[in-house]
Amino acid sequence: MQTTNVNATMVMQQDGKNAEMLDRYKAHIAPTNSRAFDIVAHRGHGSYLWDVDGERYLDFTSGIAVNNVGHCHPAVVSAVKKQIEQLIHTSMVTCHMPIIELAEKLAEIAPPGLDSVFLNNSGGEAIDAALKFARFTTKRPNIISFTGAFHGRTLLATAITTAKSLYREGYEPLPSGIYQVPYPYCHRCPVGKQPGGCQLECFSALELLFKHQVKPHTVAAIIMEPVLGEGGYVVPATGYPVENGYMQRLRQLCDEHGIMLVFDEVQSGFGRTGQWFAANHWDLSPDIMVMAKGIASGFPMAGFMARKELMDKWSPGRHGSTYGGNPVACAAALASIKLIEQENLLENARKMGERITSRMHLLKERYSSIGEIRGLGLMIGIEFVDENGKPDGVRLSALVDACLERKLLLLDCGSSDHVIRFLPPLNCSQNEVDEALEIFEQALAAVH
Ligand SMILES: Cc1ncc(COP(=O)(O)O)c(C=O)c1O
Repeated sequence: MQTTNVNATMVMQQDGKNAEMLDRYKAHIAPTNSRAFDIVAHRGHGSYLWDVDGERYLDFTSGIAVNNVGHCHPAVVSAVKKQIEQLIHTSMVTCHMPIIELAEKLAEIAPPGLDSVFLNNSGGEAIDAALKFARFTTKRPNIISFTGAFHGRTLLATAITTAKSLYREGYEPLPSGIYQVPYPYCHRCPVGKQPGGCQLECFSALELLFKHQVKPHTVAAIIMEPVLGEGGYVVPATGYPVENGYMQRLRQLCDEHGIMLVFDEVQSGFGRTGQWFAANHWDLSPDIMVMAKGIASGFPMAGFMARKELMDKWSPGRHGSTYGGNPVACAAALASIKLIEQENLLENARKMGERITSRMHLLKERYSSIGEIRGLGLMIGIEFVDENGKPDGVRLSALVDACLERKLLLLDCGSSDHVIRFLPPLNCSQNEVDEALEIFEQALAAVH
């Protein structure tokens, strides 16, 4: 997992099988593979998880935005079982039907123009592939990313990740040719403006970067999370009208200078924001779209999409992956995507998202510790602040623990672990949402 979230870990009453299993886990697993909760999961169904002692939890973490159709959806399980009995693996030795069908489906749902796909296994790996591709096709060395971003754990992904310095410390020197500009995070405006009262001054950071540090014709890619994930669930530039807003200007800037616009949709993709991809909210297509997590209901799959004429410049053998596009993962992905379509889950994500945010707005009237409620669809973040408006990770940690005590799993995010995120499966029911909101309200009262 990408966050260590150590402060969210709750020491629970550990006297059953769970405790014994945890000791065994810790005896042989690298501590860096820490888990947010001291729970040994035994089974999952829909929005619920059970531990090895039979305790049930309402899981509004979706395995960090992966289980978009819930735990062990029967349609995914059955597609995977069928595929396993037929063909498990061929690697780059032969192609197979599931990858062909999946690529066709992805071309259908991706933002317009993105009709060719490269597949591998994890988000960070896909980021590396996308940036190698951008460098290769533009023949330019430099990359621009955003402060607060999280793009993964490979060395190149680490070099463009600034969500927390913890992710970088100890790995320097990181790959070079990387520049950063501030994310358009209106609640904490990087140039000190008030939301609604600005002229997108933050955008000039890019122009200043070109003037002082790096010539635009040497930049291969600008990479952005269209909704900042680990950095705090921030929807960009909400304080400025969408028309000709930040994202449109970014698209124009990239076109003007022949720079690849790369969207990291690893966390925001596959319906999480109430649209297939976050890019759809701005009605624009990046040149490269990186995807993982929600694509295959937990089977290791990731990759990126680009226009075919661009992808065709990446000649055979220039990049690859032994397991990428594995038939079983492809079958899981196809089944998951079909469920999102057939069960109208984009609409459900929008509806349930509104239900959560409207209740949060009522709570905000009572609790001044709620600084901001933000998000799209079911990618919702609630920022907690202290009496001076500063990020309050301490209160938030207590809140996560209070939810856990009441059997609701929620994760934090943000540079100070001060944002709580709601990311239930896209097919969560109204009753489950209400159950979570009830628990959250009780937990909130308990920590005040
Ligand atoms: C936006 C984003 N990009 C990339 C990654 C890395 O993905 P993975 O952990 O599959 O390597 C993550 C993981 O949280 C992410 O949220």
